[in-house]
Amino acid sequence: MDAERLMASPLEEEITRLTALGLHRRCAEGALADTAALTLEINRLKKARKAVVCAHVYQTPDIILGIGDLVGDSYKLADDCRRTGAEEIIFCGVHFMAETAKILNPSRKVFVPSSNAGCSLSEGITAADVRKLRREHPGCPVVTYINTSAEVKAESDCIVTSANAEKILKEMYRRHQAVIFVPDRFMGANLARTLGKTPGRDIFLWNSTCVVHERFRPELIDVYRKRHPGLVALAHAECPSELIAAVDFMGGTGDMMRYVESTDAAAYLLVTECGFGELAKLRFPKKNFIAMCRLCPYMKSITLQSVLALLRDPAPQEVLVPAAIAARAKVAIDRMFELAAA
Ligand code: 13P
Ligand code: SF4
Repeated sequence: MDAERLMASPLEEEITRLTALGLHRRCAEGALADTAALTLEINRLKKARKAVVCAHVYQTPDIILGIGDLVGDSYKLADDCRRTGAEEIIFCGVHFMAETAKILNPSRKVFVPSSNAGCSLSEGITAADVRKLRREHPGCPVVTYINTSAEVKAESDCIVTSANAEKILKEMYRRHQAVIFVPDRFMGANLARTLGKTPGRDIFLWNSTCVVHERFRPELIDVYRKRHPGLVALAHAECPSELIAAVDFMGGTGDMMRYVESTDAAAYLLVTECGFGELAKLRFPKKNFIAMCRLCPYMKSITLQSVLALLRDPAPQEVLVPAAIAARAKVAIDRMFELAAA
């Protein structure tokens, strides 16, 4: 056999790389080669464009592990984007995350590989709604979940994510009697309970919900506890309060992943979007997970094929934020970074 034939082709090498990451376990027979052909070409084009791929943990593992450069929850991705030296940011996440990246990186081009990557929370509130809340509750600061549009952020005093909302709200209460928290009513109620605050008196909420997390029922916790002795139940802070009252841990996806990493439970029930469970299984193959099978239709509108299509014709998918809106939104986002780090 000559030396040339002994050398693996780029496609074979890519298949080996994806196999080492465990991706073969989620592919049907023969399908890994198709995935590898896509990741190979995406990574080649990405390098040529000096682009970086941000991937939220609700994306599919072929995106996160196959092409993701920056991976994490919405806080980590926003923070990482501030430091990237890349010329372009391809955001495999939802539109508000890409908008945040654009606000933080006005000189870089930011793209989302889907025109359907919205978010029910973000779509449930407008800038006019925030202005009305301010008029109704004069003197109360507006603390806004990052799952909102740039226009809503521009009307806000401080942005929070699931990773820092509790810490930042505590600081707000050190300075103010009452706070307006938008738009997630479940997250707001869950945080109010943790902080001993009363909705309608010292925290004023909006009525938006996440279409994925609002549908988890508290009864499911008991069902799985009976089936799996020693089970630890973790739920995202966007879940309804009755469910949160029944679990062992509430947090954002970053907190949940760190909790799994640092503990050794007999089994983990992961009450959140199913991409999180898929990733946890690949990262910790020896741990036992019961992951929910509920897809975020917005997150899942992004595929390797749509990323490749974007790299071949990016212009229509560019995320733009008017400069005046971006400047005001950035003040509220920077406030988050400042208070989260304090
Ligand atoms: P995390 O910041 O916790 O990843 O949450 C983002 C999100 O959209 C959850 O539904
Ligand atoms: Fe929005 Fe819910 Fe999807 Fe997160 S999971 S992006 S909050 S719709």
